[in-house]
Formats: sequence, structure tokens, C-alpha cells
Amino acid sequence: MAQEPSKIEALAGRRVLLVVTGGIAAYKALELIRLLRKAGAGVRCVLTRAGSEFVTPLSLQALSGDKVYSDLFSLTDESEMGHIELSRAADLVVVAPASADFLAKMAHGRADDLASTVLLATDKETLVAPSMNVRMWQHPATQANLATLRQRGVRFVGPDDGDMACGEYGPGRMAEPAAIQTAIAGYFAQPRPLAGRSALVTSGPTHEPIDPVRYIANRSSGKQGHAIASALARLGAATTLVTGPTALADPAGVTVRRVESARDMLAACRDALPVDVAVCAAAVADWRMAEAAAHKMKRGDQAELSLRLQQNPDILAALSAAGNQRPALVVGFAAETERVVELARAKRARKGCDWIVANDVSAETGTFGGDDNTVHLIAGDDTETWPRMRKQDVADKLAERIAERLGAAAEPS
Ligand code: CTP
Repeated sequence: MAQEPSKIEALAGRRVLLVVTGGIAAYKALELIRLLRKAGAGVRCVLTRAGSEFVTPLSLQALSGDKVYSDLFSLTDESEMGHIELSRAADLVVVAPASADFLAKMAHGRADDLASTVLLATDKETLVAPSMNVRMWQHPATQANLATLRQRGVRFVGPDDGDMACGEYGPGRMAEPAAIQTAIAGYFAQPRPLAGRSALVTSGPTHEPIDPVRYIANRSSGKQGHAIASALARLGAATTLVTGPTALADPAGVTVRRVESARDMLAACRDALPVDVAVCAAAVADWRMAEAAAHKMKRGDQAELSLRLQQNPDILAALSAAGNQRPALVVGFAAETERVVELARAKRARKGCDWIVANDVSAETGTFGGDDNTVHLIAGDDTETWPRMRKQDVADKLAERIAERLGAAAEPS
């Protein structure tokens, strides 16, 4: 049997973009670069202006063996490596040390220097090693920023408790370089059973125009679909997320296509074929206007108004019947408010998909828009009821099941 690679070995050949922000711990970034390079990873550094008060570009350059980037408006830098490309060419973005100010910028999506712009533009996962005074760390503003970033999937290592340069004691000291190296290696050592596979996920509501200013929509937040896309990508699948309008950030490492209406969603899904697995988690509007008005409909003196609606295409059914383009595994969702499993089974048969994830969306469950979900996975004649859990955990568990199923399908018989 092949030897399980040790975590540190997972660093070989990986590219890390290291963002060094202002803090006394910036000197520890030098040791981190040394450790990463020793383990075979490539390191490219972005240094903030505040960071350069603590560590020089020359030291970072000498240890990383690469140019150090710091200026958003440098023509030389932009022509060599634009800030978008800089954020994309890496396998992982690491911020060490991350000051309280930089965490605030990340949480609020500011982009007023190269480092913050890179963080906003990246499609890669981010690992952050905070470093600040204990009171700054404990301040509700910093804690709220952390909660926001965690919710967006940003990973953290540290901070540690300890004596601080400012003479106080408590949490806020940056994790040691070896611990950060281990966290980075841990990220790369995660199993990727879906590597080499492709996935399509639909998410969010659709908007169906009534006239140029009004539309038909529903209460879907897109949280479940986005979490599934993110979970599949984490397991290594090349994932396309086709999403209706939501307030959510694009999941890291996922190709995102934004659409408005059901018809646009269907077209974008067809464009994404062929894929190995499709998961339809979108709450597609069942109806659209038979004819959307070209101009704003005037209220006039009408006490009542009837809209003539027409049924939208069923994306799940279309993907399930896509002939030789049909994904090997098609998974639908069933949003029900009564007789959940029974109606979901009938829905699976009607739509021709392989699995259906049934959830109770009656108002008292808080599923629509909420963070939790209670689901039943219906695969053929088998029904599994999962305990109430976070949508993120439903996504991880579903992605694991998908990986098992595709893995089993690929085994020689
Ligand atoms: N779905 C779809 N396209 C549609 C409607 C639904 O792809 N036009 C998909 C959803 O993404 C979900 C599944 O079909 O995976 C079931 O959606 P749901 O709203 O529960 O069912 P409906 O088809 O709308 O059926 P009903 O209104 O009878 O519950």
C-alpha cells in the first residue's frame, strides 16, 4: 500500500502567497518563509506599508528567492504580475502576521493597497495568523470581524497566549512559524477524493421579471447550494456554481456563473456540461410571466391585477434527461412543507434524478434563510435521515457521499 505522505511533505511543489502586514511578529515571517521553502514550497511575498516598518523587502526577497510586491499602483509590478494574477497564481494565500487593522479590512472588503486588493480578488482559500495586543484581539469589533471571516470560510491559526511585546499577557501573540507551517501543510494534505472530477451546482433563487422594475422571487438565501459547491471544490472537484441573485460571497476555488432567470440558469448549466455530478440546490421559480412588460406597469385606478404566468423549464429534469451529456450522478433537492419523504420520493421519480435531498421548509423550521437544515437523503429505495445540522455540515456530508459514490463507480469490477 502507498505510504500516507506526512503532512509536511504535502508542501512540496505548492505555491504560497504570503501577505506580511504590520506587527512586531513580522520578523517571524522570515522563519516561516525559510520553513516553507525547506519543505519544497514556493513563496511569493506581498508586504504592506506598515509591514515594511518591521521587516525589509530585501530580507523577504532574499529568503523567498522571489520579487516582493508592495505597490498597488506600480507600473512595473502591474506589467510583470498584475494584482489579479498575483492572487490567482498561488495555491493558498497566507496572511502572517495579520494585524487587527488588516482583519478589519478583510472583513469589510476594503481594497486600498496591494495586500487588501489581493485578498479581495483571490479565488483561493486564505489562512490567517493574527497578531495583536490582547485588548485589540478581545475587542468586540475584532471578534465580530473574525466571526464574519470565519463564516466566509477563512481559516485561522493562533493566536497563542503569551507575554506580548507590549508587556501584557494573553491571547494575541502570533502562532509560531512551525505551527503555521503545520497548518499550511494540513491544508494541502487534506484528502481530495474528487480530484480529476467535475461538478455543477445550482444555488439561490431565480428572479423572473414582471416589468423592468419588478420581479418574482422567493426566500432562498443560496447558503446550502454555495456550501455544497465549496465542499465539492475542497474535495478536489473542478466545480462550477451557477447561482441566482444572492448576498453571498463567491466560494473559494469555484467557477461562479451569476444568472437571474430560470432560463438563464438552464443555459448556463448546459454550458457547464459535461460534468461527473450535478447538484441542483437552487430554488428555481416555477413560473415566469407569459410576457414580461417592456415598460413599468402603471398602477392607474385598477383595484386588482392578474398576471398571466407560464411554467419555467425544470433544470433538474433537463439535466437528468441530458442523453449522453447526463452527469453520472444527478442530485436534486426537494423543498416540502408536509409528508416530506413521501413527496420527495415521488419528486425523484418524476424528475429522473438519482438522489434527492429532502428538506422540510415549513416556516417554523427556519430552513429558508437560516443556517441549519434537517434533511433526508433518498437514494433509490434507501432513505437516510440525518440529524439537524449546519448547512455547512450537510454540504460536507453530501460531498463525502458523492465522492464515495463516484469512487465506487470508478473501481474496476
Ligand atoms: N428545480 C429545477 N428547476 C425548476 C424547479 C425545480 O431545477 N424549474 C429543482 C430544484 O433545484 C430542486 C428540485 O428541482 O433540486 C425540486 O425543487 P422543488 O421546488 O422542491 O420542486 P418543484 O419542482 O418546484 O415541485 P413542487 O412545486 O411540486 O414542489
